[in-house]
Amino acid sequence: MKKELWRPFLHFTPEKGWMNDPNGLVWFKGNYHLFFQYNPYHCNWDSMHWGHAVSHDLLHWEQTDCALVPDEKYDKDPTGGCFSGSPVVWEDKLYLVYTASAKKDGKTVQTQCAAVSEDGYRFEKVRENPLVEEPFGNTENFRDPKVIRADGRWRMLCGGSSGNADDPQADGRIYLYSSDDLLHWEYNGILLESKGRWGSMFECPDLFSIGGKWILTASPMNHPDMWPTICFEGSVDFEACRFEVNEIRRYDGGNRFYAPQTYSLPDGRKILLGWMNGWLWMPWMEDWGPASQEGWRGCLSLPRELFLDDTGRLCQRPVKEAAALCETKVRGRIVAGSALQKLPVEDRNACCIRLNIKKEGSRQLRLILMADESGSGTELTFDLCGHFLAVDKNGMENKWDKGLTVCTFGKTAEDAANDFLTAELWIDRSTIEIFLDGGRYVLTDTVYPSASQYSVYVQSPYKQIPLDYEIGFIPQ
Ligand code: FRU
Repeated sequence: MKKELWRPFLHFTPEKGWMNDPNGLVWFKGNYHLFFQYNPYHCNWDSMHWGHAVSHDLLHWEQTDCALVPDEKYDKDPTGGCFSGSPVVWEDKLYLVYTASAKKDGKTVQTQCAAVSEDGYRFEKVRENPLVEEPFGNTENFRDPKVIRADGRWRMLCGGSSGNADDPQADGRIYLYSSDDLLHWEYNGILLESKGRWGSMFECPDLFSIGGKWILTASPMNHPDMWPTICFEGSVDFEACRFEVNEIRRYDGGNRFYAPQTYSLPDGRKILLGWMNGWLWMPWMEDWGPASQEGWRGCLSLPRELFLDDTGRLCQRPVKEAAALCETKVRGRIVAGSALQKLPVEDRNACCIRLNIKKEGSRQLRLILMADESGSGTELTFDLCGHFLAVDKNGMENKWDKGLTVCTFGKTAEDAANDFLTAELWIDRSTIEIFLDGGRYVLTDTVYPSASQYSVYVQSPYKQIPLDYEIGFIPQ
């Protein structure tokens, strides 16, 4: 096997094989446990297992035996398996609530099931499986249970659709169930339905409260603007099975952040993890990228802490454990002008760059990441007047990296309050995560640089821009 160029140092990747959605992060009996959609046998999606890894610090993971293997008639199927779900701890036991997906008489049947463990390593599927069936007989589109505790009961959200998830005319649904024992579930109704607005199917719904706000999120299929994730802010009434939407926005401005889920840590932090890839039904996806040449495919975002800032906006930042690991090593000031200037990042695409960009008098700051000696790489353009960030990967050597992604920022009155735009960039080999304006806006992407693409340049095509920077290095 050729030397690994793309496996991130700090982001979770499976030792070998395929990975997609995060299926939970939970503190149980002295360890963090991470679960994820996994195929241990090769680098493509099929026969879904639940992979399992443990950690003491959220960053260094040791992969253990699979938590769930598709071996029951309700989940054993190469086109299905043990699909996404979530873990909960109750009465000293760790429960995994998951979707079983298998064909029955030629038709896909998805049901909600559970497995339980006393030690956090060996899981047994419960006798009562399957626990929940689709309420309207649409058995092919009923998945991704997220279990939370609210108003004194267990609540389960499941993604669904009014029809065929591949048909843009169908409406995404989020179903709500309640239970007192995690095994017997009462159907409460449809918590939210797209009704022509947000896509044909909601995968991986999530619901949580933070600072008194309720947030409902999902990964919609066929969203009219092809948003890979959607975030509703509002209020919830579990008894009436109603979610009142006050505000809607994207969770992430990029195209490589899917099926995100939040988890509560014992210290009160709300942690967000997403899968840094996408599905082939997305118009920008042709395949899942070249990491399979290194024997693995799929990566999770950095664990991010969610918080509300002074204006009450939901923001994201990498967990403090990550920041502590690569404290600032280099600090400086540069005046960006029309000529390319190098930032001192060493030669290995694994660093955290923090920038303070003066807004007044500035038009565009350009940063070229993963660049070769000629300055060809991934171009980020921060437009301070047009209020957008553009990520252009056309300068990469690898043919897989192409295209332009644009997200907006800085348009609201609250955004305008600061004189400087802060940008925090985490570059970890084949991953890029950009946190703008204190985490008010985030863009996640993947890029596969060649061995000679590791430099970072800055430039200002218009007037000069004074720039303070700090760089921390991610240890290998
Ligand atoms: C989301 C998803 C889920 C499903 C899982 C299968 O990425 O499609 O809806 O449970 O992946 O691996």
